[in-house]
Amino acid sequence: MTRILGIETSCDETAAAVVEDGRSILSNVVASQIDLHRQYGGVFPEVASRQHILTIMPVIRQAMAEAELDWDDLDAIAVTYGPGLPGSLLVGVNTAKGLAYGRGLPLIGINHIEGHIYANWLRVDDSPQEIALWRNSAAFPLLALVVSGGHTELILMTDHGQYQRLGHTLDDAAGEAFDKVGRLLGLEFPGGPAIEQAAQEGNPRAFKLPRAWLKGTYNFSFSGLKTAVLRIVQKYEGKASLAGSGRNRRIAVSQTPSVIRQLPVANLAASFQDSVIDVLVEKARRAAEERQVKLIVLAGGVAANRLLCQQMAERSALPVLYPPPALCTDNAAMIASAGYFRYRAGHRSGWDLDVISNLKLADG
Ligand code: KG4
Ligand code: ZN
Repeated sequence: MTRILGIETSCDETAAAVVEDGRSILSNVVASQIDLHRQYGGVFPEVASRQHILTIMPVIRQAMAEAELDWDDLDAIAVTYGPGLPGSLLVGVNTAKGLAYGRGLPLIGINHIEGHIYANWLRVDDSPQEIALWRNSAAFPLLALVVSGGHTELILMTDHGQYQRLGHTLDDAAGEAFDKVGRLLGLEFPGGPAIEQAAQEGNPRAFKLPRAWLKGTYNFSFSGLKTAVLRIVQKYEGKASLAGSGRNRRIAVSQTPSVIRQLPVANLAASFQDSVIDVLVEKARRAAEERQVKLIVLAGGVAANRLLCQQMAERSALPVLYPPPALCTDNAAMIASAGYFRYRAGHRSGWDLDVISNLKLADG
């Protein structure tokens, strides 16, 4: 039995978890800062690192208590050291170093993106796809579609710890596009879950929005789509503010909020979501076929979007695996799982482990 304490502080979640043999979650504590950042409409880095400092030790203590373990029962501490916000990463890395040194435990630095991929190894329901992943031979090579607030990447994984990046976004990450469009539509931060919810009432065919296929590559681009939504919103707002003239115009302006509310938010959200999902699914499906992989896994916060997961499963002939939403967004169980496989392969970090805010998983 190998038990790893995972620590994750790369962005705006302070998280700690204990995982056994890379698979069984003994505890998984996530302290979200979303309510703190909502007033800024995005993550405020300085506020994030200060909050991590306040929360990290209570979160770790809670993870240990819920796992009902003593420090002697642990085999190692795994911590995210990049990519992410430097000030936030520093809190996790320095805490992990202090605890590992003080308790005489090995320290293992983990790439946050690798952690997202390993969320798929965590036990959920012992489905055939899950079992296939656990029988290594049935899983590799696999294709990972990593879609988060900071990344959109197609990764070919040939074995544990072996990655080749097939494609990436040339501009906005998929989650970033969800967040920006959410703001345009006047929805709450973060935009991803808000758009998924608003879209349930909308018609995905209501607006014909662009899809950047970037043919001949596995790359993505979402900035044109975001601009197309902006133009539509401006058209509605323009109509509102230009309605009427003279006295009437003043009346029209004072009525602006209610006129803007006529923005077809549900239809725009559904059409935007459909466009993002269409490109992600089609590109992943094609890459998986061309690279003859055995399995497709989804990872990262945007994989919490159930429509994306359903469409990937429906449109691909290959088995598709994706974590439950709570394990798609940032958490430390995924870091502990990745830590287990690195621990098993003999990886250990030195006391000079430092944060690398633009850490890459693979070249390409
Ligand atoms: O992986 P994550 O928690 O943090 C990063 O590593 O970036 O991803 C956060 C991103 C945000 O952009 C958020 O809007 C998006 O994931 N997200 C979603 C959904 N839930 C979270 N996007 C689409 N649909 C969702 N249900
Ligand atoms: Zn993440």
